[in-house]
Amino acid sequence: MSQHARHLAFGGDYNPEQWPAEVQDEDLELMAEAGVTLVTLGVFSWGTYEPERGRLELDWLDATLDRLHGAGIAVDLATPTAAPPVWLLQEHPEILPVSRTGQRYAQGGRLGWCASHPVWRAEAERIVGALAERYGDHPAVTMWHLGNELGGGNRHCYCDVSAAHFQRWLAERYGDVDALNAAWGTAFWGHRYTRFEHVLPPRDSETIGRGNPGLVLDFDRFSSDALLEHLRAEAAVVRAHSDRPVTTNFMVGTGPHVVDYARWAAEPGLLQVTSTDHYVHATDEHRAQGVAWISDRMRGLRPDEPWLLMETAAGAVSWQPRNVPLTPGELRRNAFSHVARGADGVLFFQWRASAAGAEQFHSGMVPHAGRRSRTFAEVVELGADLRAAAPLAGTLVERARVAVLVDEEAGWAWEAGPKPIWGYPITELARQAHRVLHARGIRVDVVPTTRLADLELYDLVVVPGVFLMSTGTASAVAAVADRGARVVVGHLSGLVDPTNRVVTGGYPGLLRELLGVHVDEQHPLLDGVTVAVEGGLRARDWTERVEADDASVVARYLEGPYAERPAVTRRDVGATGQAWYVSAAFDDDALGTVLDLAADGLGLGPVVPVSPGLDVVRRGAPQGSYLVVLNPTDRAGEVHAAGTDLLTGVTAPSHTVPAGAVVVIAEELGRAPLAATRRT
Ligand code: GLA
Repeated sequence: MSQHARHLAFGGDYNPEQWPAEVQDEDLELMAEAGVTLVTLGVFSWGTYEPERGRLELDWLDATLDRLHGAGIAVDLATPTAAPPVWLLQEHPEILPVSRTGQRYAQGGRLGWCASHPVWRAEAERIVGALAERYGDHPAVTMWHLGNELGGGNRHCYCDVSAAHFQRWLAERYGDVDALNAAWGTAFWGHRYTRFEHVLPPRDSETIGRGNPGLVLDFDRFSSDALLEHLRAEAAVVRAHSDRPVTTNFMVGTGPHVVDYARWAAEPGLLQVTSTDHYVHATDEHRAQGVAWISDRMRGLRPDEPWLLMETAAGAVSWQPRNVPLTPGELRRNAFSHVARGADGVLFFQWRASAAGAEQFHSGMVPHAGRRSRTFAEVVELGADLRAAAPLAGTLVERARVAVLVDEEAGWAWEAGPKPIWGYPITELARQAHRVLHARGIRVDVVPTTRLADLELYDLVVVPGVFLMSTGTASAVAAVADRGARVVVGHLSGLVDPTNRVVTGGYPGLLRELLGVHVDEQHPLLDGVTVAVEGGLRARDWTERVEADDASVVARYLEGPYAERPAVTRRDVGATGQAWYVSAAFDDDALGTVLDLAADGLGLGPVVPVSPGLDVVRRGAPQGSYLVVLNPTDRAGEVHAAGTDLLTGVTAPSHTVPAGAVVVIAEELGRAPLAATRRT
């Protein structure tokens, strides 16, 4: 969102075409009651806009835009490319994606298109152009929403058109086919290529895993780039007719992501607003931390500007095995957790729960029961709270003192090909590090490897399972210790280079010198097996045969083949720098013990004194600063910070946060205003 936003956006996907026209009267009445400020229109409306080729029926859209504008509600107008109409798929079935096993998908879903197909591109540009031309300067339209969750359903296409596009992409990346042979190690199994035209996507073949790990990783990269090309094309068409900001809704999660969000977000001029969708999983035992993790990860893409929560659920979703609604109060807490961490708005899928269609049992802001429902009552309360918290809009989140480093490609590389431990969710390791710190009330920034320069801002940098690393990333990590700060490297980091080739000579090849260790053997533990480690710790899942060449041993393995060998090491760098290596996988408690040791003396903790279990984040701007305090526990807690709670108007030297509640404190002047949100 613009840094000059004057309010926090509130609303959701609005799909009035699903309902008889008269329902809109009630929609507008309920939107006014809830305080809706922004709706996303038309995400899946192509088939409604253009029921047959060339016949545009946009009167209802004209009328809806005018009515919303009249009601003071802004519109985030979607390009409807997430759902090509049936007639188009009938005319051009060749634009439907092809699966890895060679099956062309059928009509009936969404995102039914191949990002490389020229027919698709031309059709997409045609409809986007028609809408942009007609609505580019409509006063209701304040933002464009390009497509929807790009790659969510069409991440990979293995058709012949994609194959040819992939070959061109490879030729550009490698220049010379022998460079590709070297990078992928095609001497193995005699897979040497003599022409780029002979390289095929990693289609189903009788092999172990998905095929050559270099090929699989490059196909993931290519697939992300093909979707990025599509996004650029849509953005260019919109821009030709409209000066309004554009966004596309990401699906930031624990990863590996379907596309390279870090690179997409970093592309100059492409997206004026970044946004993401986030849904809680009913089975997630750490739901509150999950919201914090996603939000921190999202903010990390562009830490110097707010972002937008484009979709979340007001109640239950319909795509989990058991779709459990949010608990009372969770809607507000989750919304403010996103806002605390930089969201300048909270939007939902969708305004009114569908009665028919594929998502008929997905919650809406207005459930099937209508106004008389717990969900709508909580939606109305949330609208009022977000209005009260308007001063937060446009402010930036104070930098944390701790960073967790993530890399979009590292998870892809890990999943490309057989590994010593199959199905090991390596990208969960970053969430685990965040969770352990979060449980201690320590704020964390998530830094993607596209923003390595940011690493210089932190006192402690955790590198959890960053399997693939460039030498640039390895140097930036080493520089943290060189300048006197601390680095904690976890197992399975720095093992392969960007071509997915193992860095030989002892693990973790790219970080060996920094850590002062040499690992010659990896030893995954069988399910349920644990190994005792000094300090009352137990390793699970993963251990390594470590030699400490130039590091002190913090904790040793106490049993198993590596008994007496180092499990956790520390290398002192200069006067204050430290480089820790954690060779074993641990549960949260044990990892917490190690991180406590690594953070010893840094004085990390909540930004202001709070009762245990409370989550507090500061957002600020030169004109003032705000504390968002969430209490996900079942007992009241205290936050010791003077100021006024924007939600209740109470001014006090400290505030009680009832169980499950949220307070938003405008801090009293007296403390230095947050002139700089960066720590320099
Ligand atoms: C995604 C999509 C929405 C909807 C929701 C359901 O976020 O973008 O269209 O399908 O999931 O949770």
